[in-house]
Amino acid sequence: MTKPKIIMDVDTGTDDAVALTLAMLGGEVELLGVTTVNGNLELKLTTDNTLRVVDYCGKGDQVKVYSGCEYPLVSTLSPTSAQSLHPIPKREGTKVAFAMHGDHLPLPETNLKPQAKGAVLWLIETIMAAEPGSISIVALGPLTNIATAMRAEPSFASRLKEIVLMGGGDRVCNASPAAEFNIWTDPEAAEIVLQSGCKLSIIPLDATHEAEISASEADELAAIGSKEARFVADVIRGRIGGYSLRDPDLAARQAAPLHDALALCYLLHPECVSKKLEAVCHVDISGGRAYGRTVVDRRANLVSEAPNCTFALGADREWFLQWMSGLLKQAALGS
Ligand code: BDR
Ligand code: CA
Repeated sequence: MTKPKIIMDVDTGTDDAVALTLAMLGGEVELLGVTTVNGNLELKLTTDNTLRVVDYCGKGDQVKVYSGCEYPLVSTLSPTSAQSLHPIPKREGTKVAFAMHGDHLPLPETNLKPQAKGAVLWLIETIMAAEPGSISIVALGPLTNIATAMRAEPSFASRLKEIVLMGGGDRVCNASPAAEFNIWTDPEAAEIVLQSGCKLSIIPLDATHEAEISASEADELAAIGSKEARFVADVIRGRIGGYSLRDPDLAARQAAPLHDALALCYLLHPECVSKKLEAVCHVDISGGRAYGRTVVDRRANLVSEAPNCTFALGADREWFLQWMSGLLKQAALGS
């Protein structure tokens, strides 16, 4: 059976790292390449972290990494926007406002380098050269690279099979009272992608927070014994530590979501998600309090636009855990 061909667009990032590791186990997808974007960290760090993951998984000769956009399209241009505090400004000596994921992943340094070609150019060339409808993008960071490719090549969106993106939130938000981090970081890019006409599935925080993994489950994954399984377990434990500091419920449950890994799982097994809406969804780009919010129109018969996405509102936690564990076990047996 042929495996789905995918490109992963990432801002690695701990949960991106888990998604990448699972994809590189090779059991279920053909990973054509990885593009990096500013997001969790500044671009040079998301790229370096991505290369570290590729190297650690022993895929340096197979999986090429293309470095992409260094800044969001619009959101950091205004000195008064909250986004202008993040990402890290270019000038040496400028204070970093905040960093969500530490700098480097807990992985050895790597000699791997990104490709000379930039991510957006590579995306356009690859998609335009491929059979139409044969490649999917799993977008796990701000949508700057994808939106830029769509603007630069007007038929880019129509040549894709689909985009599955982790982002947005209906009842659950994290970057602001109204918005999720990936969408909030580059709201205009997200709106371009949402209105592109491409088949689109959105895996928001509402779904990923129903698929939290606990510390004892991380221990079980670690017991699989492979270096990939131990790394995934370490990342989960680290995330539980991080979430525990800011969320008393997660601290009590000793559990954390692995947002990006659920989006990869969904591309392969849509049944891992529950309560899906075929929805009209826009991103608030008005610059006010709801800037970066995914606005899902729930007015049933009153909606005049055709749905532009599948929006997940829940997840099957057990299914997701078994999928991760199964992939890691299968790879460990084969190595
Ligand atoms: C998303 O934002 C990033 O911090 C994570 O990597 C994930 O893609 C969750 O809101
Ligand atoms: Ca991410």
